[in-house]
Amino acid sequence: MDKRKVILDCDPGHDDAVNILLAGKSPVLDLIGITVVAGNQTLEKTTRNALNVCQYLGLDVPVYQGCGQPMIIEKRNSPEIHGETGLDGPTFDPLTKEKETKHAVNYLTETIMASDGEITLVPTGPLTNIGMAMRMEPAIIPKIKEIVLMGGSYQLGNVSPAAEFNILADADAAHVVFSSGVPIVMVGLDVTRKVLCYPSVVERMRAIDTRAAHLFADMMEFFNKTQKEVFGWEGGPLHDPVTCAYLIDPSVLEVKEMYTEIDHGFYGPSYGRTNCDYFGMSGKTPNTKVAVDIDVEKFWDIIEAGIRNYS
Ligand code: RIB
Ligand code: CA
Repeated sequence: MDKRKVILDCDPGHDDAVNILLAGKSPVLDLIGITVVAGNQTLEKTTRNALNVCQYLGLDVPVYQGCGQPMIIEKRNSPEIHGETGLDGPTFDPLTKEKETKHAVNYLTETIMASDGEITLVPTGPLTNIGMAMRMEPAIIPKIKEIVLMGGSYQLGNVSPAAEFNILADADAAHVVFSSGVPIVMVGLDVTRKVLCYPSVVERMRAIDTRAAHLFADMMEFFNKTQKEVFGWEGGPLHDPVTCAYLIDPSVLEVKEMYTEIDHGFYGPSYGRTNCDYFGMSGKTPNTKVAVDIDVEKFWDIIEAGIRNYS
C-alpha cells in the first residue's frame, strides 16, 4: 500500500520534534516536507530546531521557513515551556543542514496545486502558514486530502481558560482554516492532556539505547522539568505526536463530528477558543472530527515503535 504523503507544519518545540521523529521513518507515512512557523519560539529558532532534529536523525527531508508572526495580532512565544532555544535539553552537533530558499507558504501552494489531492497537512503550531496559503491560493483548498492538527479543545484552554496556544496564537488564521471546508481532525487538549510523559515513560524509551531514543529522552527530561515548574505536573503532555499517531493507527483516538468555529472577532475572555458544538445545538453541519478520547497504552506503543524505526 502506498505510504500516506504528509507535510508537517510546526513550531519545534519539544513535542513538535517528537512528531518529526515519529513521522520521519514511519513505514506508513511519507514525510515529503516540513514547513516551520513561529510559535513556541521565534521563527529563526523554530527553523533551527527543525533542521537540527532532521540532521540528528538523518532525515533527508526539506525544511521550509514560513511566517514569523501571526496574520494580524502580535506574536507570542513560550520560552517558559520550551526554553530559550525552543528546544532546550539535547545537545546537537554543529548544524550543516540548510533550510530551503523557497518560502513555506509558496512551497505549500505550489506542492498542493501540483498534487492529485493526496497530501495530508499536519499542523502542530499556530496556523499562520496554512491560513496564508489558503488566502494566497484558494484553489489549494479542494486539493488538500485532510488536515490533522494539534490545537484547541472542546473543554478547557491552556493559555487562557478558553483557549489553547496554537489557536490563540493566530486565531484569524485558525478561522481561515476551520471555515475552509477542508476535512479537519482536531487533536485538542482534551486528549493530549491524557498522554503525560512520566519519568517511567522517558526511561522506557531511553532503554532502547539508540540515538533516537536518547534524543527523545533528553528532550522529554527538559520538557518535564518546565511542565512541573509551570503546571506542577510530573509528566508533560506530549501534544503534537498524537497527530501522527492517529495517522499511523486511527484506532488510537475516538473522534466525534462537531461543527467548530473560532472565536476570533472580539478580544474578549474567550478569544481564540475553538467553539465545538458537541451536542449539535447550532444545527450547523459538522466540519471537524474532534478527538474526544485516546488509548493511552496504544499511544505509547506507537511512540516506542516510532523510535525503534531508527537504527
Ligand atoms: O498547546 C500546545 C501546543 O502549543 C503544542 O503544539 C506545543 O508545541 C505548542 O505549539
Ligand atoms: Ca507545537
